Amino acid sequence: MPLLLALGLFAFAPAVFSQKNIDPKEIREKMQWFADAKLGIFIHAGIYAVNGIDESWSFYNKKISYADYMKQLNGFTLKKYDPAFWANLIHESGARYAVVTTKHHDGVAMYDTRMNALSIVKKTPAKRDMIKPLFEELRKHNIKCGAYYSLIDWSDYNYPAFLKDSARYVISKDYDRWNRFRNFFQGQINEIATMFNPDLWWFDGDWEHSAEEWESQKVRSIILSANPKAIINGRLQGYGDYETPEQNFPVTRPNYHWWELCMTSNDNWGFHHDNNWKTPYEIITIFVDAVANGGNLLLDIGPKEDGTIPDEQVNILKELGAWNNKHGEAIFNTVGGLPQGHFYGPSTLSKDSTTLYLFLHGKMNGPVMIKGLKNKVEEVTVLGSGAKLQSKVVGKISWSPVPGLVYIDVPASVADKYVTVLKVKLDKPLNLYKGSGGLN
Ligand code: GLC
Repeated sequence: MPLLLALGLFAFAPAVFSQKNIDPKEIREKMQWFADAKLGIFIHAGIYAVNGIDESWSFYNKKISYADYMKQLNGFTLKKYDPAFWANLIHESGARYAVVTTKHHDGVAMYDTRMNALSIVKKTPAKRDMIKPLFEELRKHNIKCGAYYSLIDWSDYNYPAFLKDSARYVISKDYDRWNRFRNFFQGQINEIATMFNPDLWWFDGDWEHSAEEWESQKVRSIILSANPKAIINGRLQGYGDYETPEQNFPVTRPNYHWWELCMTSNDNWGFHHDNNWKTPYEIITIFVDAVANGGNLLLDIGPKEDGTIPDEQVNILKELGAWNNKHGEAIFNTVGGLPQGHFYGPSTLSKDSTTLYLFLHGKMNGPVMIKGLKNKVEEVTVLGSGAKLQSKVVGKISWSPVPGLVYIDVPASVADKYVTVLKVKLDKPLNLYKGSGGLN
């Protein structure tokens, strides 16, 4: 029972694959590295960085004409692109995987596609593939490589939509044309699978068509026949492996087997004139919250057209990395923590649920309290400093099954500048009291 509780999410019906007869055991094995990874870095690189405007959406929403948007092709140089620097930085952040745009909704491939001529290799001064050298550098650090791929392609003549209120044609009236588009995008998926062998596929834009129209099942099998271990995100109309809440922070623990919060570091995915940066403190607390609720964080950066990464993003990744370095034991390879109500803050558990990690935000000091813990606390230490803290049980009534309250005194001297982590060693796997007091 306690272990089951520790692995809480397994009790819920898996949201994605259950409907589609995909073997849950196989998926669980395949998903293990992802469940343990906790942190990924999302990279939105594309020609939109030239003017610093919304990725693809700027022409779709008519903030700029399509012709002017495409003029950015002439300014995309990658002249300072240093994939080893990117990979080192991602490694330093503590991330275990990275996901990079191979093609956004604007249709511009970031690699040398043979399916059409619209790529940074053929149409920009960069004249090079951005993906392969990055995957090579990431793999040197054992970082898993993900390919973001937009199913939507607003540049392709055979794709039905173009601008927000204009349609090129209706699929049901011209199936041949839709089939030409399907051959095109599935051909690109084949290329990406063959050229880069992604560990993870991050589809986007599935909302514009149904599973039947995309042929999602076929897309899934193209990917899995190239690499049976590849993980597919949930944006494939029901044929993915995990959910991707976007810029939305769950309050209660999501009912998904696996999920990943994707989030920008300011308010935009690509490089933008936007100084609304999230602070390292905000990012670390959001990250901790996702992990405590059983999820991952996919934190986005948007490189400039020359291939450099804005200083603010470099700083965010370094600060996150320094914090992970000190507190990684409480994050990586753990499972989601105590259900709400037992501790007023986020927590995680070791996989065997004999160690509980409590996260204390900000410059707090004074005692913290755990409610309903039936276990005996063997030892409390502060991660990174090794300081041992005193704990005491308050209010235990000898004849009652209700456990007392555990108070742990936290002196200001042990505080981390962002989030302090207490490591609570339990006598046995976690055992919680969940009643409403009284005799039960
Ligand atoms: C949305 C947007 C897209 C962005 C993505 C990242 O789906 O369409 O521009 O790349 O979110 O999650």
